[in-house]
Amino acid sequence: MTPFVVLSLLLTLLPSSQADSTFSPARPPAQPLAVKSPYLSAWQTAGSDGGNGGILTGQWPTFWAGATLGWAGLISVDGTVYSWMGNPVDFPTADQVSYNYTSSSSTFVLSVDSAVQVTATFLSPITPDDFKRQSLIFSYLNVDVVSLDGNSHNVSLYTDISAEWVSGDRSALVQWEHDTSGDVAYHKIYRQTQLAFSEVNDQTEYGNWWYSATSDDGYSYQSGADVDVRAQFGNQSSLSNSDDTSYRAINDNWPVFAHAFDLGSVDTTSTSRVFTVGLTQEDAIQFLGADGIQALPSLWTQYFDDDVSAVVFVQGDYEGASAAAAALDSKVQSDASAISDDYATIATLALRQAFGGVQLVGTNDTHYLFLKEISSDGNIQTVDVIFPSHPAFVYTNPELMKMMLEPLFVNQEAGQYPNSWSMHDLGSHYPNATGHTDGSDEQMPLEECGDMLIMSLEYYLASNDSTFLKDHYKLLDQWTQYLIAESLYPANQISTDDFAGPLGNQTNLALKGMIGIQAMSVIANLTGDTATGANYSSIASDYITQWQTLGFNNDDSPAHATLNYGNESTWGLLYNLYGDKALGLNFVPQSVYDTQSAFYPTVNATYGVPLDTRHTLTKSDWESWIASVCDDTVRDMIYSSLAYWINNTPTNHPMGDLFDTVTGDYVSPQFINRPVMGGVFAQLVLGLGLSASTATLAA
Ligand SMILES: *[C@@H]1O[C@H](CO)[C@@H](O)[C@H](O)[C@H]1NC(C)=O
Ligand SMILES: *[C@@H]1O[C@H](CO)[C@@H](O)[C@H](O)[C@H]1NC(C)=O
Ligand SMILES: *[C@@H]1O[C@H](CO)[C@@H](O)[C@H](O)[C@H]1NC(C)=O
Ligand SMILES: *[C@@H]1O[C@H](CO)[C@@H](O)[C@H](O)[C@H]1NC(C)=O
Ligand SMILES: *[C@@H]1O[C@H](CO)[C@@H](O)[C@H](O)[C@H]1NC(C)=O
Ligand SMILES: *[C@@H]1O[C@H](CO)[C@@H](O)[C@H](O)[C@H]1NC(C)=O
Ligand SMILES: *[C@@H]1O[C@H](CO)[C@@H](O)[C@H](O)[C@H]1NC(C)=O
Ligand SMILES: *[C@@H]1O[C@H](CO)[C@@H](O)[C@H](O)[C@H]1NC(C)=O
Ligand SMILES: *[C@@H]1O[C@H](CO)[C@@H](O)[C@H](O)[C@H]1NC(C)=O
Ligand SMILES: *[C@@H]1O[C@H](CO)[C@@H](O)[C@H](O)[C@H]1NC(C)=O
Ligand SMILES: *[C@@H]1O[C@H](CO)[C@@H](O)[C@H](O)[C@H]1NC(C)=O
Repeated sequence: MTPFVVLSLLLTLLPSSQADSTFSPARPPAQPLAVKSPYLSAWQTAGSDGGNGGILTGQWPTFWAGATLGWAGLISVDGTVYSWMGNPVDFPTADQVSYNYTSSSSTFVLSVDSAVQVTATFLSPITPDDFKRQSLIFSYLNVDVVSLDGNSHNVSLYTDISAEWVSGDRSALVQWEHDTSGDVAYHKIYRQTQLAFSEVNDQTEYGNWWYSATSDDGYSYQSGADVDVRAQFGNQSSLSNSDDTSYRAINDNWPVFAHAFDLGSVDTTSTSRVFTVGLTQEDAIQFLGADGIQALPSLWTQYFDDDVSAVVFVQGDYEGASAAAAALDSKVQSDASAISDDYATIATLALRQAFGGVQLVGTNDTHYLFLKEISSDGNIQTVDVIFPSHPAFVYTNPELMKMMLEPLFVNQEAGQYPNSWSMHDLGSHYPNATGHTDGSDEQMPLEECGDMLIMSLEYYLASNDSTFLKDHYKLLDQWTQYLIAESLYPANQISTDDFAGPLGNQTNLALKGMIGIQAMSVIANLTGDTATGANYSSIASDYITQWQTLGFNNDDSPAHATLNYGNESTWGLLYNLYGDKALGLNFVPQSVYDTQSAFYPTVNATYGVPLDTRHTLTKSDWESWIASVCDDTVRDMIYSSLAYWINNTPTNHPMGDLFDTVTGDYVSPQFINRPVMGGVFAQLVLGLGLSASTATLAA
């Protein structure tokens, strides 16, 4: 395929030396640097609303929520020191030549005075089948250096991180130490007062942060005030091998933690060094299960005796992790570009963000995958956020789906939730999955019951895990009773799109409930309760017949599903059709798909099709669900507008799922960096061909 190479649109805003960088397959609003969990989430903001156009120099990386994360790169070439990452003052900058991304990496190529080339590869490996690697909250920076002009040059390489990674409170007191284990040299940095399970400005307030390297003859290190440590390298091209021991606040003479390498004479044979940045927390989540609230360990603790052993493994595993990540990159690229180059642009940007919203937790006996409702409210294990995210997990490894659903079942089966419908979330703030024993969670009963039924059957079809269906039959059936009572004429309530407010008789919400009932009919039949299966499918079939009259317009405007029954001038994205296709139910007549396929192009705007008639905003996760179930014209129209948004939105935050279709800008509330972008994998889940109609109960 020919990469869609975009010249920077900010030619006029940038020094001419910086204006020549290419961006492939796109220049996203923010470039992922180290994105591995809700807490390891470092980005370079690019969009024109405050970003610098996608250039690694001249600006500090940020945490997804916006706070600066000091991360600097310097290089000494024949005695002159330049910066190649971040914004350390008083150094000339290298010139960026290119940027590209894959599902797991971001690569920047820079020219240092046309003499030496620096290639900085930021790898956040995604290994869906390899829980040992996936459980590690670490990201790599590989820096490769080679002569550009054919001459040999004396080169030293430098990088540091600041203590800003350690807490969202810049006045928090931090402590640090430099040590080695074998050939691994690391800086360990931590909050003096550990605040277990706490956050400040969405950053975590406990555990240890690490910045490591593999030491060799040319290695030196230093900690100390940012200006001092960088000036030391600036003057000497090496560090002092000393630790500043006046432990202090993050913002008190800004301590930084640096590694440097004397690379000697560098010619046209490249040389490289690997650095890893990451977080270790022994306990990750507080969970209210059957036995009361318990602290659940991070899953990496099951593979390593202690955190230093984990750091040593990660530092030595760059080749292995790169190979595993490259295999997934290549699978995603190949499957996605078979749909279109635009779709590959979107899917490859979305995958790391989806996995960056989750974390592997538990013991070898019980694996859980916890999800943070990033940016919208911080809830944990939100059912209607798992739902839009789930295609990324079904596509890469269905077992991850089960690991997200299980804690919800465990809590509710233990009687920890008093309502008869499915709970909305497992706790109002990550990482506290402490439930809602008083039943006062945000209520979206129809939404969540439908989501749980659809995802449970989808997991079964993708796994043949019959134990899962049998174990949870009772609760699934209980939720079905709610759907039978409520989905034909949905009460005045919110859907997952809660910012739009409540509305009665929502056509799309009703559809979800009906698909949920039909899904339970399949589950009943699979598990041998065919009388119940027959009853539920006859109810669902009666409802869907009535719905085709209730939920569509009768006036002269183009035929379409309404936003709510009888409100003929309204319309909306009928994204719950995805459940029918993903489960292979063949429940909703083809005529409904055809009607919607013909309709969406009539309401297409510059940055996509609006969510519904109440606003000009859209939800890009739901748009991509529409794209996956409609005809190729709609599919290509939506993916083209999403790729256009990625390249042209003025926003400078990690990819958002809520924006204005006319301006491309964010609206309030800003939904950024949410794992829901995993929803773009709906298209590839449909390619799996899951089929309820041919399913049997696996032994
Ligand atoms: C590189 O370093 C060597 C000694 O280490 C020195 O002789 C040589 O002049 C240096 N080359 C340049 C271009 O600075
Ligand atoms: C990204 O850029 C690097 C450095 O030029 C190159 O080695 C790599 O092949 C590129 N990757 C893609 C997917 O274009
Ligand atoms: C989680 O609960 C603990 C108490 O167990 C509390 O100290 C902490 O602030 C809570 N975390 C968040 C993010 O609300
Ligand atoms: C390093 O150079 C700066 C000027 O660039 C000077 O002010 C400073 O004193 C020097 N520091 C050391 C340790 O040599
Ligand atoms: C967990 O399982 C892995 C193999 O998958 C094994 O290496 C490790 O020792 C086990 N850990 C514990 C605590 O049993
Ligand atoms: C599940 O079983 C069906 C046969 O009923 C088979 O066609 C399908 O490939 C199996 N799926 C998995 C993931 O094993
Ligand atoms: C839903 O529509 C039915 C039939 O038109 C009507 O009786 C009912 O009041 C509506 N419900 C709500 C919540 O608007
Ligand atoms: C479940 O089985 C019953 C009895 O055979 C049948 O009537 C019903 O249509 C089946 N449900 C589905 C979704 O196929
Ligand atoms: C069908 O299911 C509904 C809802 O659970 C129930 O009220 C009804 O009695 C059932 N009908 C039969 C024939 O079992
Ligand atoms: C959708 O609208 C945009 C902006 O008006 C336009 O560029 C694009 O061609 C339209 N697509 C279709 C299929 O109509
Ligand atoms: C029609 O939908 C709009 C929202 O788009 C709402 O404000 C209005 O109340 C609805 N009218 C009826 C009759 O439901």
